[in-house]
Amino acid sequence: MEDLSSVDTSLMQKEVLEGLSKPQKRLPSKYFYDTKGSDLFEQITRLDEYYLTDCEKEILQNNIKEISDRIGPEVMLIELGSGSSYKTRFLLEELTDLSTYIPVDISEEFLLKNVNQLRLEYPKISIIPVFADYTSHFELPVSENSSQKQVAFFPGSTIGNFDPEEAWAFLNNVADITAEDSEMLIGVDLKKDTDVLQAAYNDQQGITAQFNKNILMHLNRVLDANFDIEQFRHKAFYNEDAGRIEMHLVSSQKQTVIIGDKTIDFEEDESIHTENSYKYSLEEFEELVADWYSVEKVWTDEKDYFSLQYLIKK
Ligand code: AVI
Repeated sequence: MEDLSSVDTSLMQKEVLEGLSKPQKRLPSKYFYDTKGSDLFEQITRLDEYYLTDCEKEILQNNIKEISDRIGPEVMLIELGSGSSYKTRFLLEELTDLSTYIPVDISEEFLLKNVNQLRLEYPKISIIPVFADYTSHFELPVSENSSQKQVAFFPGSTIGNFDPEEAWAFLNNVADITAEDSEMLIGVDLKKDTDVLQAAYNDQQGITAQFNKNILMHLNRVLDANFDIEQFRHKAFYNEDAGRIEMHLVSSQKQTVIIGDKTIDFEEDESIHTENSYKYSLEEFEELVADWYSVEKVWTDEKDYFSLQYLIKK
């Protein structure tokens, strides 16, 4: 995930204070990802309980020939967000005829570091980084070959972290930015047994708890806040009605926190809702994308926990 250490502080302050003023206190989950948070997320992806990454790797590995055939030769591959280098390399390794790779990321520093390395490893591929927030409008580089096919790559089920309206806006934006007939390879986590879901967000080693609490450390560091991390506990559960894992930080006692020159009061057991991670059935996902894309092909892992889906613009 991207490193947001070069974050816009006044925007962060505005969004954080707005979220913490709501009846159900909220924090934007993008603020998990400072350098420490990105590192903790990488650790999460290696946990036994966190099946998402392994399942996605399994699907990529088992179907790479078919996936690369669908993507085809001479395409422009646009990766939305700084995917884990594993997934990027895996695709670049297989897509030997790829002509252009466009990693899109909000963090310039992170992107440049990755791009320099990738250029050394894949000298034949033209790698053009785009510094942008992919949830807002941005311009793609103009291709010399106007008929070059564009394929967006959005792995990891990051789409699950968007509320339905945000997912709608994201899809609308990608469809708007990319050319007619463009395609998308997207990772989507599926609905499954509640115990499996809840274990993935409540790991034994407590890494997810550290990841969740790190958002408060990020606020302390950047916004001059004074959250006492020890006074908040991690809570993650599957909300069946909403079809999502919810992560919260629960205040262990009545307390007041200072952020800059503002104070925020907490009752004992009051929570801050820090993240949603939506889980889709195949039908629900098909319906979600239906205004812009048709689902051409779905690959799943052996347990049917996770899906990689190939979408074609309508
Ligand atoms: C990045 N995203 C897909 C992760 C997820 O599973 O929703 C973030 C995460 N939150 C807790 N663990 C992992």
